[in-house]
Amino acid sequence: SEVTAFLTELPKCEHHLHLEGTLEPELLFPLAARNGVELPDTFPKNADELHETYNNFADLQDFLNYYYIGCNVLIKEDDFFDLAWEYFKKVSSQGLKHAEVFYDPQSHTSRGISLKVVTRGFERACVKAQEEFNISTKLIMCLLRHLPVEECLEIVASAKPLIESGVINGLGLDSAERPFPPELFVECYELAKSYNDALQLTAHAGEEGGPDFVTNSLDLLGATRIDHGVRSVEDPELIKRLADQKIMLTVCPLSNVKLQVVKDVSELPLQEFLDNNVPFSINSDDPAYFGGYILQNYLELYSRFGWSKAVWEKIAKQSIEGSWCDAKRKEELL
Ligand code: ADE
Ligand code: ZN
Repeated sequence: SEVTAFLTELPKCEHHLHLEGTLEPELLFPLAARNGVELPDTFPKNADELHETYNNFADLQDFLNYYYIGCNVLIKEDDFFDLAWEYFKKVSSQGLKHAEVFYDPQSHTSRGISLKVVTRGFERACVKAQEEFNISTKLIMCLLRHLPVEECLEIVASAKPLIESGVINGLGLDSAERPFPPELFVECYELAKSYNDALQLTAHAGEEGGPDFVTNSLDLLGATRIDHGVRSVEDPELIKRLADQKIMLTVCPLSNVKLQVVKDVSELPLQEFLDNNVPFSINSDDPAYFGGYILQNYLELYSRFGWSKAVWEKIAKQSIEGSWCDAKRKEELL
């Protein structure tokens, strides 16, 4: 349709995409076989059954349990490359121009896979996305907040050369939000930033945690944008601050529905964000688990909010401006 064509053409940036969350059941089972990885007895037996399971998550933790089992099938550098490359191939036809992608080193190093192997596989796919599709990329390492802080400090320390050399461009914080508030990770963020002042900082907050998680991620971690952040709407002062300081929220509509943060996309406070000039971008989070890639998330919002061409162009512009690429690249994307 005309709408699909318009939203496909619209220059899109993704700021909230977990590379491990792009693992489709159709790749998971072959990788498990190829690598001799045994899945739990209770795990679905084929791709169809697994898709069905993914359609019925109770909450964030229920999803995360499957997500970490999925991670276990990734072993070799080429597995990480193949995973990310499949993602870039899919979104190259959806008008994606710039991708700032997350990965979770600890879900691999804890299984004896080196940070270098994981990062190198993902980095190769990023380089190839630039070369073949003109998709620019940034790589963001995330800390798993349900793990002990000492382990998070260790992974940051072992990432020092990758942060110094700019292979890793950003630091994030993910996994179960409550009861692991941002204040636990102050030292981790300080240490990472001390390796390279150009390192960008973000954190998941305000998905299942309250608006205080958002405020504390900004004040205590030094985050300059917030992943999810939809519960910011509960605090009017915070809303004003996000607008004044142009702090972008990386919103994930399909994810929020599938993890039962909201019952329907129409409940998301996006009109409030628009009316109050709170910048946000539209993202897919873990598309293999939530049933849709970036274009699907745009289409879903169109189906509920409508919005004129002018509004969509404002959203596209805000998402370019909130990106971590340089001024020259932003100019190209506009
Ligand atoms: N890890 C992968 N996706 C996530 C999400 N939406 N929230 C927290 N941790 C995650
Ligand atoms: Zn996420």
